[in-house]
Parts: sequence; C-alpha cells; structure tokens
Amino acid sequence: MTKNHPSLAMDPYYEGVPAYMTEVYDWAYVDPKWVRALDHNWVVRVLLFLNDQRLMRAYLNEIKEGMRVWQLAHVYGDLVTRAARKVGPKGAFHLTDVTPIQIEHGTRKLAGMEWTRVIRSDAASYAIGEDDRYDLICSFFLLHEVPEEKKFEIVNHMLEKLPKGSKAVFVDYHNPAKWQPIRYILKVVNHYLEPFAETMWKNEIQHYASKAERFTWRKKTFFGGVYQCVVVEHKQ
Ligand SMILES: C[S@@+](CC[C@H](N)C(=O)[O-])C[C@H]1O[C@@H](n2cnc3c(N)ncnc32)[C@H](O)[C@@H]1O
Repeated sequence: MTKNHPSLAMDPYYEGVPAYMTEVYDWAYVDPKWVRALDHNWVVRVLLFLNDQRLMRAYLNEIKEGMRVWQLAHVYGDLVTRAARKVGPKGAFHLTDVTPIQIEHGTRKLAGMEWTRVIRSDAASYAIGEDDRYDLICSFFLLHEVPEEKKFEIVNHMLEKLPKGSKAVFVDYHNPAKWQPIRYILKVVNHYLEPFAETMWKNEIQHYASKAERFTWRKKTFFGGVYQCVVVEHKQ
C-alpha cells in the first residue's frame, strides 16, 4: 500500500498531514516506527556532518532568558528541550509542527515545563493570538524540506508576525563551495531524498520574502558554505 492510500486518512498519525510529507518524507517524519528510531542526537549529528552543535548554537545564542520564542517545527534530539530551558519559566516557548507523531515527541520532551506549548499547526498558517508577541521566531532546517510555494508562505507568515524589535532566525542548507566535497554527496542525497532542498542553493532566503526590503538580513555560512544562519530584523 502506498503511503497516500485513502485508508491512511483514517490513521490518526496521517490525518491532516500534507501530501509532500507522506509522499516524500513518510519514513523520516510521519511513520511512528521510524520516528521513534530516528529521534536521537546522534542522528542529527550524522545528518549534519558533525556540525549539529555549532548550528544549534547559532539559534540558541539568540535566545535570552525570559524571551517569548516560537519554533516552527520539531527537531530530532534535544534541541527543543535546550531552547525551552534557555527561555526558562519567565518566558514562553511555543513549538508548532504539522505531523501528529512529531507533536507527540515534542510534548513528551517538554513535559513539566509550564512555559512551553506544543501546537499542531502548519507553520505557514499558525494563528498567533492577538496578544501573543514573539521576541524570536526560528525555522531550524524546515525550509529545505518544503515545496517551493510553501517556502514563500512560511517566510512571509514569519515576517508578517515578527514584531518590531524581534528577530527571525533561519538555520538551513546553503550553496556549498565547489571545493567542498560534501557538495557532491548532497547533490546525490538531494536527488534521491530531498527534492525541495536544492533551491536553497540557488536562492537567498530573502528571495522568499515579498517585502524583503523592509528587513535587514544578516547571513553567516558554515562548513564551506554547506549551511547558513540568517538573522532577520525590521529596519529601524
Ligand atoms: C524541522 S524539519 C527537519 C529537522 C531536522 N532534519 C531534524 O533532525 O529533525 C522536520 C520537521 O518539520 C515538520 N514540518 C514539515 N512541514 C511543516 C510545516 N509546513 N509546518 C510545520 N512543521 C512542518 C515535520 O513534521 C518535521 O517534524
């Protein structure tokens, strides 16, 4: 049975999950058996060619105690717990994700931290409460996994919801230097497993923002250009 078979719509783990998730990433993010096997720090470490800690730090270093933070999607391993601990009880840490099993894992990791919330929502349409104001909004390796139209929707929604004085942080893939051997490994990986990733090599993240000129875009690359962290703020 293929993973977009109609009977799967009855399976609570598949209900309301976007087609690109079941068609492309079923084993990676939707099927509970696989997700249980993959949700470990060492998996993230291997996937990121041992760059996991510095890429996480690029995000975690932006968090100050007491901030209100929205993280767009769950990440395997302990990143969400570390981010929530750094925010601490004087702040708020809100995690969204579009997939039921990821909500389950996120909820388990954040149990007992009353300043956290785990919300099932597509990051592109997360309905932020009228009085909810985030100091930091982070997309950690989400953009390369979503189809092109969704990249536009996510970036625009994030920036629309970004209050003046707050920061949006994107950590994701980038165009690796020609000398970087990982470039050629990723070409093959993208071809077979990550069909939406390669446009991250061609487009700057600001390409996906319809009002890019209203913001400052500060980019830092890592590991010979394989990865990037972009911090976005409203222009003064
Ligand atoms: C952040 S990305 C990849 C992160 C990284 N590769 C890791 O180790 O987990 C994976 C997550 O994005 C979620 N996701 C995919 N599309 C989404 C969307 N439109 N809105 C919110 N979450 C989404 C998936 O359910 C999954 O939990």
